Amino acid sequence: MKILVINGPNINMLGIREPHIYGYETYSDLENYIRDICKENNILVNCIQSNVEGDIVTIIQNAYNNYDGIIINPAAYTHTSIAILDALKSVGIPTVEVHLSDINSREDFRKFSYISLYTEKTICGKKFEGYKEAILYLKEKYNK
Ligand code: DQA
Repeated sequence: MKILVINGPNINMLGIREPHIYGYETYSDLENYIRDICKENNILVNCIQSNVEGDIVTIIQNAYNNYDGIIINPAAYTHTSIAILDALKSVGIPTVEVHLSDINSREDFRKFSYISLYTEKTICGKKFEGYKEAILYLKEKYNK
């Protein structure tokens, strides 16, 4: 099984950005965490972070026929990007949406997600653990 993990804008600033919301661990810590869980579960993983909406669209398009699952934290694009939603719909790969913080208990503008109009599952407010839950969900689905 092969999965793609996509993190959107400002996720590379983890550890620096608003640590009271996102914590003190860095993006590199997050990648290591994801890689360890995937290794334990015999899953091949590719982790990509981008601050650019169009690049994320291209990354999703290139995933077509190459991955069995996608985990995406589109960050601020969650609340604005029809282009990322359409890209996910185009490739039709099982996808889980993850947010480190609980987007439902923050500002009103974070409560709506375009991305969840496609994704099978949205996990939020569990910090790094959310990615683990997403990996295990995709693994179970793939093995069914
Ligand atoms: C986020 C939540 C978004 O609202 C925000 O724009 C982010 C991160 C999260 O992981 O909690 O950048 O996706």
